[in-house]
Amino acid sequence: MKTYIVGNWKLNFTVGEASIYLHKLLKKIPNYRDLEVVISPSLIALQSLSLQIDRHKMKLAAQNGFYRDYGAFTGEVSFSQLRGIVDYCIIGHSERRHIFGEDDKMIQKKVAAAMRNKITPILCIGETESERAFGETADVIRDQLIGGLSEVADDELEKVIIAYEPVWAISSTKAAKLASPDEIAEAMALIRKILAETYGEKIAEKVPILFGGSVNPSNAGGYLTVPGVNGLLIGGSSLILSEFADIIEVAKRVKS
Ligand code: 13P
Repeated sequence: MKTYIVGNWKLNFTVGEASIYLHKLLKKIPNYRDLEVVISPSLIALQSLSLQIDRHKMKLAAQNGFYRDYGAFTGEVSFSQLRGIVDYCIIGHSERRHIFGEDDKMIQKKVAAAMRNKITPILCIGETESERAFGETADVIRDQLIGGLSEVADDELEKVIIAYEPVWAISSTKAAKLASPDEIAEAMALIRKILAETYGEKIAEKVPILFGGSVNPSNAGGYLTVPGVNGLLIGGSSLILSEFADIIEVAKRVKS
């Protein structure tokens, strides 16, 4: 399985800044066969970056998309419009869930719409600090996973990527804490187990599972060696070109 290094830029960079970043990153990194490098800029930059990007070196992800292909939905952009521009879309990020009120029902429709339009969903799941404190972590992971995937057929599951991002470990969260390797390993094993129970072991093995939460060049290597981790979803550190490039280098070293 490839190793995924995904940079989620969230609401940062103008179109011009995004283009300069991409230009420099393309110059800095070679084409790594076993690494899938993905950047996820703001929607407004996607079209121009799709013309600039070298798809042998990296791919684009949208940060969001709407589940209907067209119609009276002011302000929305559909996966059918994103088709051909991006290869991936982050869906169900905790910021979408908690700031914009997206629930599992909406997220499952978005996952289905992405797949219908040949865009690989990166389905984000993860518990908040208080859910963990109340011992609800396993239930939250199960509910978000089963809920988000409920419209995905068995033979389509291998086209999905799961990202486990405990909300309390995200750098923008107040008093963010670093997730420990044991906490991550436990979540990875649980996710794989739920997938195996629902879709069968053979299919479950093929699903890449990423970790996200305060990843930076100095902890990336450690996180990538946690059992079950197939890649990283990076926020803050992906905004600093040298750090993102260093994480890519670390991934190359650790996984080869
Ligand atoms: P940080 O890497 O800044 O903690 O963000 C993680 C994240 O939310 C990526 O989607």
